[in-house]
Amino acid sequence: MKKITIIAVSLALLLAAGALALENVKLPSPEITGGMAINQAIHTRRSIRKYKEAPINLRDLGQLLWSAQGITDTKTGHRAAPSAVATYPLKLYAVVKEGGVTGLPAGVYLYAPKDHGLTIVKKGNFYPDVVASMHFYNSWVEKSAVVFIFTGASTLIEKMSKDSGMLFTDLEAGMAAENLLLESVSLGLGGCTIGGFKSEKAAALIGIDKNVRLLLIVSVGKPV
Ligand SMILES: Cc1cc2nc3c(=O)[nH]c(=O)nc-3n(C[C@H](O)[C@H](O)[C@H](O)COP(=O)(O)O)c2cc1C
Repeated sequence: MKKITIIAVSLALLLAAGALALENVKLPSPEITGGMAINQAIHTRRSIRKYKEAPINLRDLGQLLWSAQGITDTKTGHRAAPSAVATYPLKLYAVVKEGGVTGLPAGVYLYAPKDHGLTIVKKGNFYPDVVASMHFYNSWVEKSAVVFIFTGASTLIEKMSKDSGMLFTDLEAGMAAENLLLESVSLGLGGCTIGGFKSEKAAALIGIDKNVRLLLIVSVGKPV
């Protein structure tokens, strides 16, 4: 009887580990050379709000996430975008539309910089909720393939000086978002910064804690 219990528990643990493995998605290694020349990307960037109903690929999704929050120095853990006192308070979510990214089920994903991977927050097509979380003038977002949501946790700096701490986190989101926008240009994609969203509805999409603020949304898709 004891033996059967041990086997049953081991099996349950193995199944749980398998289920957990399914919850994470490894992204293709980021391209760290090449791409469009930086001046050309800066010169070409425009806010793009019209998208083809066509998916982007997983490599491009990974490259976009990496450009915003990827680890670019494995020794120090420093990331692609700067951070005040290297506190890295940002989290970056990707809400993927049904058919938005080739081979990736629709859902809400959290970028894991250390693994350059995705952790699934919830599966399903939440794009109707994305559109519902927008102010009316941003309904065009429906045609994008993915929206990126930047959140910021309160930092040690914020504890010392609330205003500076919050400002620094907001600035970091802007810097990371600009990286992502320039990367989207380099990949032949189009993106737009979105500040016109309903915070509570957008926060409900990803389910954030009280001490976390939702800072910025960026849409990306294939330009028309
Ligand atoms: C913080 C911020 C919030 C923005 N919010 C929106 C928005 O809610 N909807 C939108 O269509 N564009 C939004 N934009 C994009 C601006 O409208 C756009 O950057 C501006 O018109 C300049 O055009 P360009 O980006 O093509 O150079 C936002 C830009 C920033 C920086």
